Amino acid sequence: LAANLLAATPIIRKKLMGYVGFANLPNQVHRKSVRKGFQFTVMVVGESGLGKSTLVNTLFNTMLYPPKEPLAPNAERTQTVAIQSISADIEENGVRLRLTVVDTPGFGDFVNNDDSWKPIVENIEARFDSYLEQENRVNRQKIVDNRVHACLYFIQPTGHALKPLDIEFMRRLHTKVNLIPVIAKADTLTDDEVAEFKARILADIAYHNIQIFQAPTYDNEDEETITETEEIASKIPFAIVGSDQVVIAPGNRHVRGRSYPWGVIEVDNEEHCDFVKLRQMLVRTYMEELREYTNDILYENWRTEKLLSMGVAQDSSVFKEVKYGTIVPPYACRKNAVLHEAKLAKMEAEMKMVFQQKVQEKEAKLKQSEEELYARHREMKESLEKQRLDLEEKKRKIENGRPLTPEKGTVRHSGFHHATTGDSDR
Ligand code: GTP
Repeated sequence: LAANLLAATPIIRKKLMGYVGFANLPNQVHRKSVRKGFQFTVMVVGESGLGKSTLVNTLFNTMLYPPKEPLAPNAERTQTVAIQSISADIEENGVRLRLTVVDTPGFGDFVNNDDSWKPIVENIEARFDSYLEQENRVNRQKIVDNRVHACLYFIQPTGHALKPLDIEFMRRLHTKVNLIPVIAKADTLTDDEVAEFKARILADIAYHNIQIFQAPTYDNEDEETITETEEIASKIPFAIVGSDQVVIAPGNRHVRGRSYPWGVIEVDNEEHCDFVKLRQMLVRTYMEELREYTNDILYENWRTEKLLSMGVAQDSSVFKEVKYGTIVPPYACRKNAVLHEAKLAKMEAEMKMVFQQKVQEKEAKLKQSEEELYARHREMKESLEKQRLDLEEKKRKIENGRPLTPEKGTVRHSGFHHATTGDSDR
């Protein structure tokens, strides 16, 4: 019905005769969203010591992670990947952001890291579950969005290629979260090494069909935005240097960076590393895009799969139109739906067959009992007829006053009995 209603409404293009005021709509949306504030959840995954906490502090320019105490040599490490989240309310020019960072200490730190990805996938799915549960409540006024909007995956700066652990993690997570791979501590590699490493990582990602987050481009975009998007895309995977320290750079400039005997690496200098481009992608330009993609595609696909697996039917006639195009259920969902339909069709055919068989049996039985009834009816009719004839015969005989069986030597005459002897002739 909804699809019909949509299709039935004709759209006519009209020119305005004067100012109406709906050009102010973006400002209304702006005011409203500033009042409401924003929620953003970023997950950081990577082996211990790759600079995750430092990068988060650098990205949001806040000491979200306090300086760490070094682990004592005999201190016990956790035996599994633990998930910890820190939330902070930060404000910039009146815009409030509830930032949540989900850390995954222990990832890749064990002798056997086969299942390191498991607790992380479970955590992401639990957040989807919690959102779905809130959506299904009677009162949906205040939905808290704890879903992970982006996952920064820290790749060790080995200069070789992706490790099996990296590939396994990305393969397991790329359909559930916006993956943003970063080369950690890129200051430990030369420019050429970084370029080669990036090429190899991209080749590995393509080979394993891993989908990483790409900033979307739209047809009606201006030149500047298209160039910016292309520049960001050309830097993936971002080679990152993190530092929450301010150092003195040449020209007596106070910059965030790392000071080495041979010079200073500036975090915010695009010539030195890709930190600026990463921040652009994650915070300045595409934070809303990451949130939307999480909601419209990743969550929606997960939700469809979850509801289908629970046996809730999908109304395929109405798919939500979004700017990414029509949302098509993922392959797995489509396959599930097809299998489900085939199963239903088979069940229906089987039920029809059983029904027909039962009907035939019943009909045969009815026919048989009908025939038996006819036969009995016929028999009874015949015996009754016979009885009737006998009785009629008896009646006639009684009325005639004659013996029932004529005696020897007697002649029947109407009303009288005569003896037929020789004496009468005499
Ligand atoms: P865990 O909490 O153990 O998982 O570590 P982490 O990944 O959060 O690393 P953290 O930010 O604590 O950094 C570990 C060490 O690496 C610190 O001494 C940082 O100063 C240093 N470090 C952080 N970022 C960089 C970087 O970009 N380059 C270099 N060379 N060192 C870095």
